[in-house]
Amino acid sequence: MKFVVDQQVEDIEMPENLKLNTFLQEFHSNCPHPECSFGFYGFAFGQSPFPVPQLIQNTLIKNVEKGAYAPISGIPELRNAISKYNKYYFKMDVAPERIYVGPGTKELIFNLLEILHGTVILPTPAWLGYLPQIRFLKKNYHMLPTRANKKISPSDLRRLALRLQDRQKILILNNPNNPTGLLYDQLELEEIADVCREQNITVISDEIYALTTYDFSKFTSMGKIYPEGTFVTNGLSKSHAAGGYRLGYVIFPQHAADLKTQFKKILATEYTAVSTPIQHAAVAGFEISKEMDEYFVTTRNIHQIMGDYTYHALSAIDGVKATKPDATFYLLADFNAFATDLQKARISTSQKLSESLIVHPYHTAIVGGDSLVLERTDFSARIAYVDYDGASTYKNYLENKPQSNAEKLEFVKMNAPKVVAGIDMIADFFDKLKKDTLSNFDSKKSSMITSS
Ligand SMILES: Cc1ncc(COP(=O)(O)O)c(C=O)c1O
Repeated sequence: MKFVVDQQVEDIEMPENLKLNTFLQEFHSNCPHPECSFGFYGFAFGQSPFPVPQLIQNTLIKNVEKGAYAPISGIPELRNAISKYNKYYFKMDVAPERIYVGPGTKELIFNLLEILHGTVILPTPAWLGYLPQIRFLKKNYHMLPTRANKKISPSDLRRLALRLQDRQKILILNNPNNPTGLLYDQLELEEIADVCREQNITVISDEIYALTTYDFSKFTSMGKIYPEGTFVTNGLSKSHAAGGYRLGYVIFPQHAADLKTQFKKILATEYTAVSTPIQHAAVAGFEISKEMDEYFVTTRNIHQIMGDYTYHALSAIDGVKATKPDATFYLLADFNAFATDLQKARISTSQKLSESLIVHPYHTAIVGGDSLVLERTDFSARIAYVDYDGASTYKNYLENKPQSNAEKLEFVKMNAPKVVAGIDMIADFFDKLKKDTLSNFDSKKSSMITSS
């Protein structure tokens, strides 16, 4: 039987994360070298390596019998816990009625884009999740390329907004940022908020990495600076290492009562409610406790140690520029200084660069520029520094906290040998590229792997 797929789905590109998965699997099964069985140095996947906090796991087990549907916006205990969590960590007064729980922030961002009319402004580089959603919904959108500091320039934002015809515009702000790992400080947010007020721009502030901020005292939510125009999204996926639980929340702006009914309509139509046992488990994740607090501090300290190492090791490769992460588990590495050599080696796009690094003998998975909504010929890449065993690293950290730089270096070498070896492999690749001794990268064959 031949099935006909709806044109709307035919028209959208495969989301990059799925494309990447397919590519890595294909590469794996097609690689004839014995070394390929080892897999690859994984700098591509954006997933926290740590175990789900024990407290959340235990609470989930205790609630397995809860089989009834939950209320559309979330169980009251959870909305209350999220309200207190926002007060405690983000100094925000958010009544539980302004909070909606959904199956991950990705879905909630999609829902917001469904109900909000207007042109979307997408600063680039960007997380690879937004663009397929915007395209799927056939929304008007404009990119807002960032400048050398990789942050939104308020004057560029104003200039773009003035050109747009729509009464309402929607800015997607991702703070802390994936892929750069950078954090907007309070002043930077205030400057952006001024432009948003002036130009009637609604903000979707994706703050899923908020609690990974290394110096947490520096984090400010846009919901605090621009409460009348910001939808804040956050959840369990990154700070609580529970992406698979699929639970996120959105805080509605102040005085948005009319919109709430419309939003509930969408939630009820699309998914009824998040799984009830998961909501109960999430209460434990958002309630203030010593255990969760220690988890956030420990995991962010480890991310920082890995991030500092990755930043310094990549920056030590002659020609590589990298963002120095303030949060998350990513940084953006800029390989554009090698553009001429790459072109000479017939590596003409960022996609080809990712492909040539994944094949034997390099075995290194990165997310290339075009997956980050950059030009196809921009040789920048997102490097996720999470390829290590989170459970044992967490334990080792608590047993013996590294203090000095030398101890931190030793900690990385001991606990994350694949991060160390993978960066060495990247260094080796660019070294060979410069010396013109790159092993025979067959661009034709690789692109066949991707498209199949
Ligand atoms: C910036 C950003 N926003 C949202 C998400 C998705 O989060 P969730 O698991 O809550 O859907 C991710 C996951 O990679 C992300 O990096």
